[in-house]
Amino acid sequence: MTGYLVPTKKVRVSDFAQKKARKEKWAMLTAYDYSTARVLSEAGIECLLVGDSAANVVFGYDTTNRVGLDEMAYLGAAVVRGAGNAFVIVDMPFGTYEASDAQCVVNATELIRRTGAQMLKLEGGVRMAPRIKALKDAGLLVCAHVGFTPQSVDALGGFKVQRERLREDTAAVVEAGADMVVFEMVPADLAGEITAECTIPTIGIGAGAGTDAQVLVWHDMAALPEGARRPSFVEVFGEVGAELTRAAAAYKQAVHQGRFPDAAHSF
Ligand code: KIV
Repeated sequence: MTGYLVPTKKVRVSDFAQKKARKEKWAMLTAYDYSTARVLSEAGIECLLVGDSAANVVFGYDTTNRVGLDEMAYLGAAVVRGAGNAFVIVDMPFGTYEASDAQCVVNATELIRRTGAQMLKLEGGVRMAPRIKALKDAGLLVCAHVGFTPQSVDALGGFKVQRERLREDTAAVVEAGADMVVFEMVPADLAGEITAECTIPTIGIGAGAGTDAQVLVWHDMAALPEGARRPSFVEVFGEVGAELTRAAAAYKQAVHQGRFPDAAHSF
């Protein structure tokens, strides 16, 4: 299938560096299962993130801190099987990397081994620089995540735009060897300025148009479920929730009325 501009070979980390040099934007979406990964990859999305936002949109928790390594490993492996040529990043869940560099490397290698993903993402700037360095020393690819970091929502006093430490945190993760960095909920002008100076690709979510790439939770951009509360930075690009509700109701009606299955769908 397609008509969309789909990468013709496996996307590698070097492709993102080259896109930055050419000032060419690219798109990342979250994915949590095989079928959705296939759909997003067939639409030409260059990078899939197995986000710990799975805690919210897959498992129904109210915080990302409730998801663990096993869940991320199962979801990540399914996404990788459906990802086609898209690059796949998997989130390190809360509680799997904070204690020490050794804990971080053991869990990171376990996640990569079980999922087959190409890169790990972890939250934190200056305070996580030693972990990023340890992962790089272990031969792993790392995406940092600064600005608003959902795993620290309570320490940050809620869902608030972050400005103060963005420069310092970005400099620390770049210095530690991160391959790319997510900026979440930060002022657009600041994200654009730092992106222009930054040697690694920046990916924005609620960070304006000046970053090298953008990421959204796919359920948000596709309005699944219909009517759910979404962050103000989200644009809805399709009404998947409404369409799924319509399809399920049509199926129910056909079953109730004895119209399904008809002869064409019976043996
Ligand atoms: O878990 C997640 O989905 C994320 C982003 C949306 C950046 O970390």
